[in-house]
Amino acid sequence: MSTTLIKGGLVISATAEVTADVLVDGERVAGLLAPGSGLADSADRVIDATGKYVIPGGVDAHTHMEMPFGGTYASDTFETGTAAAAWGGTTTIIDFAIQSMGKSLREGLDAWHAKAEGNCAIDYGFHMIIADVHEQSMKEMDVLVGEGVTSFKMFMAYPGVFYSDDAKILRAMQQGAANGALTMMHAENGIAIDLLVQQALERGQTDPRYHGDVRHALLEAEATHRAIQLAKVAGSPLYVVHVSAQQAVQQLAAARNDGLPVFAETCPQYLFLTVDKLAEPDFEGAKYVCSTPLRPQEHQDALWQALRTDDLNVVSTDHCPFCFKGQKELGRGDFSKIPNGMPGVENRMDLLHQAVVEGRISRRRWVELAATAPARMFGLHPRKGAIAPGSDADIVVYDPAAEQVISAATHHMNVDYSAYEGKKITGRVHTVLSRGEVIVSGGEYSGRPGRGQYLRRATCDYLG
Ligand code: URP
Ligand code: ZN
Ligand code: ZN
Repeated sequence: MSTTLIKGGLVISATAEVTADVLVDGERVAGLLAPGSGLADSADRVIDATGKYVIPGGVDAHTHMEMPFGGTYASDTFETGTAAAAWGGTTTIIDFAIQSMGKSLREGLDAWHAKAEGNCAIDYGFHMIIADVHEQSMKEMDVLVGEGVTSFKMFMAYPGVFYSDDAKILRAMQQGAANGALTMMHAENGIAIDLLVQQALERGQTDPRYHGDVRHALLEAEATHRAIQLAKVAGSPLYVVHVSAQQAVQQLAAARNDGLPVFAETCPQYLFLTVDKLAEPDFEGAKYVCSTPLRPQEHQDALWQALRTDDLNVVSTDHCPFCFKGQKELGRGDFSKIPNGMPGVENRMDLLHQAVVEGRISRRRWVELAATAPARMFGLHPRKGAIAPGSDADIVVYDPAAEQVISAATHHMNVDYSAYEGKKITGRVHTVLSRGEVIVSGGEYSGRPGRGQYLRRATCDYLG
């Protein structure tokens, strides 16, 4: 097995920063060494990280490669999406396998394994979306937990597609309480939202800007409150996905203050973009249609605050790209037909570093939110999300002084626009190692489809 020494960088973890050399032996981290320990002469390869940060590879716990939605599919495959993730310093994704109505969890999971296997450039795991709660699918949940699928997403939104009523949610939460799974929730009151959608369309309000109006912040807060109460009744932990409303954050903070095992994520789009994007002319607002929706500035401020206080625990992308041409355009004349979702798997680490540069979060919190906390939340730590002896050598050498401008012209995601077009970022990924193999270096990509491995996950590290 070959050895690599990453020399002279500032090694940043969620809790500490130290100038050290990192020794990699094969696929694993062998240890951290005092700088200049003399090993440089004997290592097979030396990576000079002087003046750079050395951080654990990013863990993006919320992606949707090839997700079917609104008559089309998310435009990144596992091949293109994981390569783009690697370019952006993310070395693990957790994607959502989908159970279709009338089908088993097993059929859905097998379908996602078939899409991913042999195609991923980085390691990957799966959550499972439960769309059809019945006694058989509840039994299957137990089996899947044993196979490393330890988190299950349910939807209070999208009636007729993924939606589950309160009884079904409670039933699945009871199962999760018993088998150790974490229930993930899309918390929006979809029944009320669908009424508002219908009323808006009847008034002739068909433009993307109305997507933000009908998906009201209070309907996110109400669903978040309800999900918390249902989880409490079931004795189950809860993880709320893609939180964007200030009032939802208040519900989460109150639950956490009460000592409940309630966790949540937000996403870069809610931290860096506001609702006015939905009103861009010539239907361009469709590029920013996702659910929960973008919100006014005061919500964004509350999200940053909650990241600092740990009322929000993780930043994931909810990467679900649809091209403007031919996909987002399906909703011309009816905003409710715009496929919901935005690209971002390549941008998350850089955007969060920009937040470090702007003084919103510390360097350690950057590492925690983007790598360590998601790895712990979803049973991958310390294999992922850490640079420690025995951890997978998923390591990013990050240049904090490099300047870049985000653009669709230069990104690697398979989508024809960037949600952050023209945004200036200080900082850039220089080198990416995935299980000890250099897959990105100085603007060159040497990853390949199929080198990424499926990850059987343990249960949430924040419980018990
Ligand atoms: O708009 C979004 N978020 N699309 C992806 C599906 C989901 O609800 O996460
Ligand atoms: Zn969702
Ligand atoms: Zn999602």
